[in-house]
Amino acid sequence: MNTIIIKADKGSLREEDLQAASNILHRGGLVAFPTETVYGLGADALNPKASKKIYEAKGRPSDNPLIVHISDIKHIEDIVRNIPNKAYELAEVFWPGPLTLILNKKPNVPASTTGGLDTVAIRLPAAKIARDIIAASGGFIAAPSANTSGKPSPTKAEHVIADLYGKIDMIVDGGESTLGLESTIVDLSGQDPIILRPGSITKTMLENVIGNIEYDAEVLRRSINENIVAKAPGMKYLHYAPEGCLTIYEGDIQNVVKAINIKAKECLDLGRSVGIIASKETAGLYEYGEVKTIGSRKDENSIAAGLYGVLRYFDKNHTEFIFSESFASDELGQAIMNRLLKAAGYRIVSVD
Ligand code: TXA
Ligand code: MG
Repeated sequence: MNTIIIKADKGSLREEDLQAASNILHRGGLVAFPTETVYGLGADALNPKASKKIYEAKGRPSDNPLIVHISDIKHIEDIVRNIPNKAYELAEVFWPGPLTLILNKKPNVPASTTGGLDTVAIRLPAAKIARDIIAASGGFIAAPSANTSGKPSPTKAEHVIADLYGKIDMIVDGGESTLGLESTIVDLSGQDPIILRPGSITKTMLENVIGNIEYDAEVLRRSINENIVAKAPGMKYLHYAPEGCLTIYEGDIQNVVKAINIKAKECLDLGRSVGIIASKETAGLYEYGEVKTIGSRKDENSIAAGLYGVLRYFDKNHTEFIFSESFASDELGQAIMNRLLKAAGYRIVSVD
């Protein structure tokens, strides 16, 4: 398939490019576009044939439901029934933005979009390009992250090109996603609200609006052996997994650096390639391997934004052993560690 690549200028699309994207989506095709979290792979959410194409292009298991993206809060009522007040309360504060709500679906949302579930995930993104495309294309766009299933989510158009070029109709290049981690997912379809996936909208931020909210057990998982059934089907997969063997080191940062230096040297002595995921504050302390800085410990947003790019970098280089520092595990750090732990297959070494 011929994939058209278009560049958005200063955060918005030219009228003719927007029209071209909308034409593709209207006739059931696939368009990847930037959002503030990660790039999404869009298709008409109400057209079963269109959403099926997403699964093919990504190589995604068909039981893993898609998020329906809307461009206006009022459209929630078109696809959702029995909307609880808490949904409106959260939507008013956090939409447009990196929050996805799970609600009970209306019959017009096809089973192929929801993976056969009776609920639907719904998000109103902040990125203007995304909202313009959604509004011009029928208003309901299913969009998972625009990566091949199992790879880290794309935060740049070049990541999408690497995974999906030739498999989809269009890629809209809108520069780098500002947040770099997928949206927080909150399930409001049952009795009590539950966080199914941590993200930039933290537990504290949610609780300030709707009161007590718990994490799904999967979010708190610290070992691959725990017997947990994830409520968000996609969270059960060890995606974000790099090709190399990734291990996280946690504890006093000086001990972490020391332990990683020893391990890195051992691997290099055996002729294996080594990558190190460090923070700006510690990058200079590593003596071996290729050191990549993901961000500053003083600014967790920079770490969130840098994570997937670094994982993809080591994949591109076929780095065999990757050692990472661990990061704070509250607030945004909870989301960062959740993705890092999955990427590492929960391989974490405590050095204290
Ligand atoms: O930030 C994001 O959310 C990005 C951008 C593109 O919006 N999208 C994204 O989509 O991360 P995806 O498909 O990569 O992740 C969606 C997650 C999956 O883990 C899926 O299982 C879960 O949401 N999900 C979708 N519908 C659900 C439902 N009805 N019930 C429970 N989990 C659901
Ligand atoms: Mg994904």
